[in-house]
Parts: sequence; C-alpha cells; structure tokens
Amino acid sequence: MTAADTSALLDELGDYLREDAPALSLPPEAFVSPELWELERTRVFGRSWVLVAHADELAEPGSYVALSVAGEPVVVTRDRDGELHALSPICRHRMMPVVEEGSGRADSFTCPYHLWRYGLDGRLIGATFMKGNPDFDPKTCRLPRFAVAQWQGFVHVNLDAGAEPLAPHLARVGEDLANYRLDEMVQVGGWVEEWNCNWKVAVENAHENYHVLGFHPETLQPSTPGGAETSVRADSPWANIMRVRYTEPLEAAILPLTEEEKAHLYAFFVFPSGSLAASGEMVVWLSLIPQSIDRTQVRGGVLMPAALIEGADRDTIRKESEGYAAMINAEDRHGLEAVQRSVGSRFAGRGHLSPKEPGVLLFYQNLARALLREDGAWPGQL
Ligand code: FES
Ligand SMILES: [Fe+2]
Repeated sequence: MTAADTSALLDELGDYLREDAPALSLPPEAFVSPELWELERTRVFGRSWVLVAHADELAEPGSYVALSVAGEPVVVTRDRDGELHALSPICRHRMMPVVEEGSGRADSFTCPYHLWRYGLDGRLIGATFMKGNPDFDPKTCRLPRFAVAQWQGFVHVNLDAGAEPLAPHLARVGEDLANYRLDEMVQVGGWVEEWNCNWKVAVENAHENYHVLGFHPETLQPSTPGGAETSVRADSPWANIMRVRYTEPLEAAILPLTEEEKAHLYAFFVFPSGSLAASGEMVVWLSLIPQSIDRTQVRGGVLMPAALIEGADRDTIRKESEGYAAMINAEDRHGLEAVQRSVGSRFAGRGHLSPKEPGVLLFYQNLARALLREDGAWPGQL
C-alpha cells in the first residue's frame, strides 16, 4: 500500500467514530496491510494494557510467564517479595533472550549465550570476564521494564512503561462484576493456543454472539443462540460490555447472583485483546495477542469460586474445563482461519453488520481511536 492508501484506510476507520457511523465490517485491507500492522504495533499494542495471565499462574515466588506481544518479547515475573515485574528478556550484552517463551519457575535468569545473570526484578547480578572493560557498569545494567498491573486477579502488561493506570478504566466493570467475587475465584484450567489469523479477525468474533449460529450449532446454540437478545455498552475507551440472554437462567449455589445475572452471559472486553465472560458461577478469560500480521496467540483460563470446588478432584475439573474450552476454541479457530484465507482475495469486501452484532462496532471504534491518536492521550478521557 502507498502512504495515500494507508491514509485512506485510516480515514475509513475514522468514520466509525462519526455519529452516523456506517454499520459496515472493516475494509479487507485492514487485515492484510503491513503498514497498518506497523501502526497497530506502535499505536495499539505499544501503549495499551494487554491481559497476559491470571494471577494463579504467577502465584509462587519465582514463577514467570514469557510471551511476545505484537512481536515484542516480554517476561512477567513474581519475585521473592511477591512483587510482579514485566521485563524485556533481551540480554543487555548481545541480545540473546534470557528466557524462552513459556511459563515456569526460576530463581534468576541466566543468559544461555555468555551466562550473564539477572534477578527476577531485571537487575544484573553477574557477568563473567567483564572487569577489564572500564565502560561497563554492572550496577546500572538491567533488563528494561514495562508497566504491569494486576486487576482483580488479571495480570496486564503495557509496553509503555509510563502508561496511565489501568484500574480507573475498569472501575465500572468491577462494579458490574461485584457479585461474581473475582477475588475469591481460582483458575481451574488454562491454555495457550496459536491461531493462524489476524488478531482483529479473532477479536471481532469475540465481540458478537451472532456467529454461534454457524460456528457453535451444537455447543453454544442451545444456551445462547445466535439470535439471542444482545445489548452492549461502552464503559471507557478501553472497556466494553456485552450482555446476552440465556435460553434458560443458570443456577448459583455459592455466588449472590441477581435474577438478571443468572439470566445473562456478561462479556467484558478490555481493548485491545482481553475479555472475561461471566457465566453463572464460571468466568472464562481470553486474550487474543498478535504474534504477527496473520498469527494470534490465544491465552485463556476458566475460573470458579474456591468454595464451589472445595474437596473436589482438581485434576478432573481441570481436564473437564480445558476439554470444553478446547472444543469451543477449535470451532472458532477452524472458522476464523478460513476467514483469514479469504481476506486477501480480490473479491473480499466490506459487508453490512447485523443488529445482533453491535459489539463489533464498539471494537472498531476502540481501534479507530487507538490508531488515530498520535500522542499518548485519549480524546475525552473516561
Ligand atoms: S548475549 Fe547474553 S550473555 Fe552474551
Ligand atoms: Fe465463538
């Protein structure tokens, strides 16, 4: 694409912010333009809070989760004092990653190349054969830091170390979720998958229940049919909520859920990639994190009230919850990878959206705002 094409594409995205915004899907170029992907890396993922883990995955001192966010390697650690850190794992000597992607436990990170050693807070604690270099100061040498925040058990990182705090943007989401008592929930199962699609193909899908008709006819259609009553609300430039009515209300044995809460699935989206779906006494979180223009990592987990599973066999619950999630994820993945194969076609084009997918437009608005702001500030905060 030329610079003029990219600017025309941004103008089209900007139209989603108009009062009379068209109910149209994204232009197909939005999924394939390398120039837009570069802008997303800097303007969206370079300065937004990205959900990366549930705190249960980082509960023990020394635990870490290493991943990449839009091409940027990140490691999140819990140090011996219980403090969380988000660090760049790139060695300060000659750029070897000091830890590979994945999760585990470590007392420190030793670079596999020349064995420089770093603490869980990123400080250099050892570098062999460096005494002869007078310009090298081990005291100021450390892994660069990103911002990290834990909100109601959900660990987010922001590649902008000076990012504004996350919590104020989620204040209303927290109120909405009060009866679900997220702080008393434990993660009973979790997964990391790779899907071959652009991250927006996956995120727009998560913002609507309409696709249950086609992708989940046997699994989700009986409880939350594609035509179910659906409403949405934007809470801040970062947070959206979608409410979908169940065919039959759910029961609640432990949580003080209202009749409204038992009768609806509540899905909360934290732009750009995080979501939580509260479904009776179960919460499922999902984060759709781009790895490249056509590859998305899908991280997620299932949470339940600790009191609900007391005395139950955790291994059985884990297998059941992960098995169910894997089945739903496979249905989405299969469909979304097919969409990805089409977005580059000469005949791909913008389509009209259904009134059953209002959340998709909220996501497009978030995207347009994030891409069009050039400085760090949001137009019209909260
Ligand atoms: S690159 Fe890490 S010690 Fe040399
Ligand atoms: Fe789905």
